Amino acid sequence: MKSLSVALALVLARTTQAGLRFGCSSLTIQRLDPVVEPGNLPSAHLHHIVGGNAFNATMTGDVGARGTCTTCQMAEDFSNYWTAVMYFKHPTNGSYHRVPVINNAALAQGTTGGITIYYTQYDLSRDNIKQQPITAFKPGFRMTVGSPTHTGKPHAGLSYNCLTTLINRGPELSDFPTKPCPAGIFVTHHFPACWDGKNLDSPDHQSHMYNTVTTTGFINAGPCPATHPVRMPQLVYETVWDTTKFNNLFTTGTNPFVWSFEGTGSGTHADYMFGWKGDALQKAMDKSECFYDGCGSIKQQSMSVANQCTVKKFVNEDIDGWVSHLPGMEVSM
Ligand SMILES: *[C@@H]1O[C@H](CO)[C@@H](O)[C@H](O)[C@H]1NC(C)=O
Ligand SMILES: *[C@@H]1O[C@H](CO)[C@@H](O)[C@H](O)[C@H]1NC(C)=O
Repeated sequence: MKSLSVALALVLARTTQAGLRFGCSSLTIQRLDPVVEPGNLPSAHLHHIVGGNAFNATMTGDVGARGTCTTCQMAEDFSNYWTAVMYFKHPTNGSYHRVPVINNAALAQGTTGGITIYYTQYDLSRDNIKQQPITAFKPGFRMTVGSPTHTGKPHAGLSYNCLTTLINRGPELSDFPTKPCPAGIFVTHHFPACWDGKNLDSPDHQSHMYNTVTTTGFINAGPCPATHPVRMPQLVYETVWDTTKFNNLFTTGTNPFVWSFEGTGSGTHADYMFGWKGDALQKAMDKSECFYDGCGSIKQQSMSVANQCTVKKFVNEDIDGWVSHLPGMEVSM
């Protein structure tokens, strides 16, 4: 099987679509979830959040119009992107330690931690299937992918890679690796890209969208079904967790990592809150043959400016060092 980095290199060599790939530095790590638990201060478990400074326990209306700064390289993107936080669980004494995030390869200089974001017209593909026109997300739009309560194999777009170097990802796995990874654990979240055309959200934050990704790797998605006819940008997150400092505490054959909801690899999930200014995303998606450059129309900022964007600490709790319980999980057992 081809590694993703090889597949990516092939795509870049013959890209025929409009796509964006950019980094957003870490904005905050807090127990907040304005999509699944709006208003809850704190939410049930810890999240790693990147993007605009309109981030808050409750988020309604036009986030892009409210944002005044963003940790993303694309300066008109005030969206928020988040996932659960990875923890190392000590195999003998049971204490937990938060795993730091490091930036992905080939992002703008100065990106710190963060998430790599893709918006593409269709999944990165080797060939040239004609696709429906792409409709950008609308103000107020939000969605999640995956679920902390899911058991069994996560769907094909949610995956793990055991990094041998920062650019060599090895094969895609559907769960945490069970051996120490020399350069960290790479986590991918592929969102569904077909919209029902009506609802900015749904009670489960998922049924307004439909997923046509059925196999691993970067391949073309099938057509959108009649129930969800509108094709939206393919949104993908990549996060690199620096697990290396725990490698000497590892017992080979078992996985010592958990997500911040005390969960296993099957419960991997991610949340999206749309917040682009005006029609900046739509304009980029209407282009062709562009990838790293903002598609010729999106303003970019240097990461030294992006990194000055902050939000306040809404939830005051210690999330670093060795802890006996995961934040929010104190009452278990
Ligand atoms: C967060 O939301 C609260 C309640 O709606 C509001 O009072 C506060 O100003 C917001 N804070 C920020 C930093 O946006
Ligand atoms: C567990 O081990 C770590 C690393 O050796 C140590 O720092 C931590 O205090 C230990 N926790 C307990 C509860 O003993």
